[in-house]
Amino acid sequence: MGSAESLAGLRVLITAGPTREAIDPVRYISNRSSGKMGFAVARAARDAGARVTLVAGPVNRRTPKDVWRVNVESAEEMLTSVSEYVPETDIFVATAAVADFRPRQVADQKLKKNGETLTLKMVRNPDILATVAAIADGPFTVGFAAETENLARNAREKLISKNLDMIAANKVGRDEAFDKDRNALLVIWNDGEQQLPKQGKLELAHALINCVARRYRESRATRARV
Ligand code: PMT
Repeated sequence: MGSAESLAGLRVLITAGPTREAIDPVRYISNRSSGKMGFAVARAARDAGARVTLVAGPVNRRTPKDVWRVNVESAEEMLTSVSEYVPETDIFVATAAVADFRPRQVADQKLKKNGETLTLKMVRNPDILATVAAIADGPFTVGFAAETENLARNAREKLISKNLDMIAANKVGRDEAFDKDRNALLVIWNDGEQQLPKQGKLELAHALINCVARRYRESRATRARV
């Protein structure tokens, strides 16, 4: 089936970009995600006929036509927004680079540079993807895995530990994936995998969406038979 109608009538929820975790009113902790991959996935899902909601961290990107966009800043805000849309979602794709930790306290005033060092106490952020994947009868859930080493092994571990339907793994580094126009993905599910070669992120997103659509239909057919 071509991407033109592979997701017709389905509702797809996508997270994209980085999150920002405030330190004080002017400083934050974040990462290099540009939102290019997530916005490309949103366009590809829309092109495949889906109704798309895009929950985006702080990125300076134009909203794709016919996509409903919600802007958030922190991981906690992203979880709140995702939780609101998840009950009406068939497929959830988590491309966002969510900060794993946030400062335990956000200072009310700008921190003073009194000493030579500054120690920040960090606490764990909620895992948005794992939260969605744990919902009984929840959406078909697709994670991303950003790995600097042992790509396939680490991604497969995330697929299993987070109880996902599928994971798209990319090798990341200073010159790979983050903020780049081209990327490659190794897509893994419980009994198979597919390598999507390096290409422009929009073409890659179309290939990923084709793969997701195929697996989604297979999994729903199996669920109907059980
Ligand atoms: O935005 P670009 O510049 O185009 O870059 C694209 C990308 C490199 C950010 C993207 O392709 C990518 O790999 N996204 C996932 C980044 C990541 O955080 O990977 P991870 O292996 O740390 O997390 C695994 C999965 O859990 C991801 O789907 C992530 O969205 C999700 N997660 C992680 C932590 C958390 N607290 N909540 C989550 O939902």
